Amino acid sequence: MSVVVVIGGQWGDEGKGKVIDLLAEKAAYVVRFSGGNNAGHTVVNDYGQFRLHLVPSGIFNPGTACIIGNGVAVDPASLIEEMDVLEKGGVSVQRLYISDRAHVIMPYHLLQDGLEEACRGTGALGTTRKGVGPAFSDKASRTGVRMVDLLDSNSLRERLAIVLEFKNRLLKEVYGASPLDLELVCEEYYKYGQRLAPHIRDTIALLGAALEQKSHILLEGAQGAMLDPDFGTYPYVTSSPPTAAGACQGSGIGPTRLDKVLGVFKAYATRVGQGPMPTEMAPPTGEMVRERGQEYGTTTGRPRRCGWFDAVAGRFAARVNGFDGAIITRLDVLDTLTSIKVCTQYNLDGVLLDSPPSDADLLVRCQPVYQEWPGWEAPTSGVRRFRDLPEPARNYVNGISEVTGCPVHLVSVGPHRDETIELREIF
Ligand code: GDP
Ligand code: IMO
Ligand code: MG
Repeated sequence: MSVVVVIGGQWGDEGKGKVIDLLAEKAAYVVRFSGGNNAGHTVVNDYGQFRLHLVPSGIFNPGTACIIGNGVAVDPASLIEEMDVLEKGGVSVQRLYISDRAHVIMPYHLLQDGLEEACRGTGALGTTRKGVGPAFSDKASRTGVRMVDLLDSNSLRERLAIVLEFKNRLLKEVYGASPLDLELVCEEYYKYGQRLAPHIRDTIALLGAALEQKSHILLEGAQGAMLDPDFGTYPYVTSSPPTAAGACQGSGIGPTRLDKVLGVFKAYATRVGQGPMPTEMAPPTGEMVRERGQEYGTTTGRPRRCGWFDAVAGRFAARVNGFDGAIITRLDVLDTLTSIKVCTQYNLDGVLLDSPPSDADLLVRCQPVYQEWPGWEAPTSGVRRFRDLPEPARNYVNGISEVTGCPVHLVSVGPHRDETIELREIF
């Protein structure tokens, strides 16, 4: 039996979608356990190119069931749109199951996300404005609406009557915005419930049975460790745990059932949205990497900030997730560089740090201490065996492994499922 967790080791967009699509060939279940449609997971395979936001990236494998776990915040309209795109592309969504306990992103969450960002002014977080933060806030403050509530129009109306009472006060009296109409919201969201009803399940029971049958289960992380509300660059973080611990909480699989936790790292670093990023590259190199790597947000289209590999953040991610190994992606993006830097420590006012400080203001002041590696200046996308990579590329991969303390399991050299080098077996 194998339960494998795949976690973003940086600030998201590490290539988790590609990795999951590949690994799903061997998995009976793929489970999303956190985040919402703030995530954008790109999959390139024989069906074409897809940008998944809520549907797990295992959906392309006919033998794999996909679960949107209890820890995900679901925008039903966005999910339905995604399911339609997949069906049109010839991909069946029949084996997609949504936890009845998953929270729903409601129209006021979308409004709140935009209004709160506007209020933050120059301190805006740069959220994806998908309403994910406000939905998780409501989950914690016990005013959330869950998928199960969408299945019964009377209980939905009862629940919403209470919630809209104070949401409308907030919209009108704090933000001066228009209130929402109870009946219209009920009608719209009950309709979504009806459409999604065949997929809504007790997914904890489903996964419990899968564990008993010793099925292979893949837990698909969203976002990345450095966006975690506890461990990330607070307050420039997301609002649900993208970590291995979050995988348990958001799926209903207990911690003792996890067999392997793998961290996905880009061969360099990117970040979209605001917040400190000590290894951010100066414009000419940053722009070159952005263009070569087409580093634009999958969900929002925003240009991603590019930086050198940050092993201080990488080690920290490995520690808080207990990574058993690493997956390095986008090695090919570095193919043309003559030399490549890796940050091994931060220098904070003359003091060398091995792990990131908790205060974002201090992190901004940290100067990266770099190791410099020679580039390989040769194409790597066609390589399928580690030993066939140019020597400097192998040294670089081994170097990342060493500075993060994670044995490398896979190296990705292109977006397509096949553009992958396997170093260690995962299932
Ligand atoms: P995710 O959110 O972690 O799933 O990552 P995204 O899909 O947001 O961003 C990763 C991008 O890199 C996508 O466009 C992928 O198609 C692409 N990608 C993944 N692995 C590789 C790789 O090894 N090389 C290149 N060039 N692109 C890759
Ligand atoms: P995937 O799963 C990269 C970032 C946003 C913003 C911060 C808070 O594709 O790796 P939110 O909308 O969550 O309240 O925004 O988090 N963010 C991501 N960045 N990849 C993601 O997901 C992200 N999901 C959220 O840009 O900085
Ligand atoms: Mg992404």
